[in-house]
Amino acid sequence: MRIAILGFGSVGQGIARALLAKDLDIIVTGLADSRSGIINPTGIDLAAALARKEEGGPCGDVNISPADVVARADYDLLVEVTPTNVDDGEPALGHIQKALMRRKHVVTSNKGPIALAYPELRDLAAANGVFLRYEATVCGAIPLIHAMQEGIAGNTISRLYGIFNGTCNYILTRMAEDSLTYEQALAEARELGYAEADPTYDVEGIDAGIKLVILANTVLDMQATLKDVERTGITLLTPEALRLAEDQDCTIRLIGEIVPAAGVLRVSPRLIAKTHSLVVEGTLNAVTVETDLAGDLTFIGKGAGSTETASAIIGDLLYIRDRHVQSS
Ligand SMILES: NC(=O)c1ccc[n+]([C@@H]2O[C@H](COP(=O)([O-])OP(=O)(O)OC[C@H]3O[C@@H](n4cnc5c(N)ncnc54)[C@H](OP(=O)(O)O)[C@@H]3O)[C@@H](O)[C@H]2O)c1
Repeated sequence: MRIAILGFGSVGQGIARALLAKDLDIIVTGLADSRSGIINPTGIDLAAALARKEEGGPCGDVNISPADVVARADYDLLVEVTPTNVDDGEPALGHIQKALMRRKHVVTSNKGPIALAYPELRDLAAANGVFLRYEATVCGAIPLIHAMQEGIAGNTISRLYGIFNGTCNYILTRMAEDSLTYEQALAEARELGYAEADPTYDVEGIDAGIKLVILANTVLDMQATLKDVERTGITLLTPEALRLAEDQDCTIRLIGEIVPAAGVLRVSPRLIAKTHSLVVEGTLNAVTVETDLAGDLTFIGKGAGSTETASAIIGDLLYIRDRHVQSS
């Protein structure tokens, strides 16, 4: 199968390294970052492209744009791994639409287009006879969407709740462990590269809320937007609150929750027993799904990272590769 990769940052490079390390019968015929692109129908030299990025250069030819790669490269599947924009999903949304209209499968880690326009994209993919998959948009390496769509298909899900944002989990873990203030723990998370310069998206619960919207709309048959998520972040939490929790053998975690039958989507800091399986440390994610047939299932794993996110993308690629009918 021939793929084009749009976005060559942490995730894009993680995918390239995995493709170089493993023999997956996949060749990359298109590649772009924000400034450049490469089109090569016989296969791009990924090691050379990685070396150019390591040196701080563009990955390819500055006369070839990302839009050129989407429109002109010869590929079966577009991997869309450019930055998330949750206001209008662009430019990723337009690129995904264009690829689907060209009858190309799409795999993405980009939450914007999936949270904002999933029904339209799903219908466009179906109308063109191609797959659209997005496992990496929720909880990084954890194959939660795959498990819910396939592994526990046929179960009724009464509730789903857990830790969807590793940055907040890191901050809360550090506040509880060493009595750091919110500001101190955030500064540490920034130093370690876990938090952005503007952490609003994480600490106000927006990132977790978007992931709930994706799960609600794509696997729970709901129709939600970010406005439907009741949302409280962690910015006002004090070390005293964590100490009080500690006195009751509890801790505080930012929990995202969906109760499908009640139409509830909620992100808020919650008191939780320290022995609860969702109390994971550091940047881990953890999600419990309550079902009628399978009982409760808890998934724990890395919610972000170059290799970990590439793992989810590769899983989607292979799912499609094994179902893809070669057109030429
Ligand atoms: N990193 C994670 O652990 C993780 C986990 C789950 C989901 N995600 C999602 O995966 C996506 C990629 O994340 P990332 O961490 O790889 O981001 P990143 O390191 O910032 O890389 C983004 C890449 O996209 C390129 N880019 C920016 N605007 C572009 C445009 N208009 N057209 C084409 N390329 C463009 C950038 O180009 P330059 O190289 O020229 O700057 C860069 O190569 C995001 O949507 C993110 O939310 C990431």
